Amino acid sequence: MPSVFFTRKIPRSGIERVQSRFDTEVWESEMPPSKEEIIQHAESCEGLVTLLSDTITSEVIESLPRLRVIAQYAVGYDNIDVAAATARGVIVTNTPGVLTETTADLTWSLIMAVSRRIVEADKYVRDGRWRVAWGPELLLGEDVYGATLGIIGLGRIGQAVARRAKGFDMRVLYHSRNRVDCEKDLGAELVALDTLLSESDIVTLHVPLTQETHHLIGTRELSLMKRGAYLINTSRGAVLDEGALYDALRSGHLGGAGLDVFAHEPTPHNNPILELGNVVVAPHIGSASTRTRTVMAEMCATNLIAALSGERPPNIVNPEVF
Ligand code: GLV
Ligand code: GLV
Repeated sequence: MPSVFFTRKIPRSGIERVQSRFDTEVWESEMPPSKEEIIQHAESCEGLVTLLSDTITSEVIESLPRLRVIAQYAVGYDNIDVAAATARGVIVTNTPGVLTETTADLTWSLIMAVSRRIVEADKYVRDGRWRVAWGPELLLGEDVYGATLGIIGLGRIGQAVARRAKGFDMRVLYHSRNRVDCEKDLGAELVALDTLLSESDIVTLHVPLTQETHHLIGTRELSLMKRGAYLINTSRGAVLDEGALYDALRSGHLGGAGLDVFAHEPTPHNNPILELGNVVVAPHIGSASTRTRTVMAEMCATNLIAALSGERPPNIVNPEVF
């Protein structure tokens, strides 16, 4: 019977589906196993279930001689050396689609929270600073309604974000390698990156992390943004140069930022960005709804079981191994 190592506990229905067919070991700690621990526990495994906080290098892949599939519990898989997996004939799968709407909702939560200063307002009340019943100029934010939204990366999540913008009567610009078929339905206009940056009131990032998108947004790009504009990132921390963002916020050039992802996760609590009042942060919870995390677990299990049964998994990242 093939055996499978889960690097973390995922929702139970996913684990149970795998347990009913294969020998299964689940890493019990909330802390990720180290590279050495993964190699040790998965040594004789054919299947490996991973999270985005596991770094699956070519060394790990080469140290697992029986490995046939890496089933990632996430849509992004920049933590896995897919080229090394492909070279060894190891299938890599992910969980696209099911988390699209949930991640778009979180993106919108950050857009709204930053624009209307919700976290500052909450703290203001709780800190006992609300002493005047109604302040004509208290906690003024900016309108989302009617503003220009710039979406960088119009994949599934970017499109779901654009769809929500319709209800806010926004002008929607996007930048993407290719023109997207549904742009008319979305009312979105393809523009050059620099145009998007200089014309948007809110810029939101929805590209995967690759060599081309690493630090896609740095000092030059931030300087092109409108004074007072907002930047939202629910993709991957390294798409953005965090130091450059800090400077742009600190100087007052940008009006605020909403960040669900960081260059290093967990971000250290002394990250200077956390000292800025106009930044709303979350601990990488884009897909974190009860329903979506359960469906992701089941999808991850389905992919793994298919691969170990010699079938083509529904969500294969490197179909060329097949
Ligand atoms: C979360 O960031 C994911 O890639 O699923
Ligand atoms: C991920 O699901 C994307 O294509 O945006």
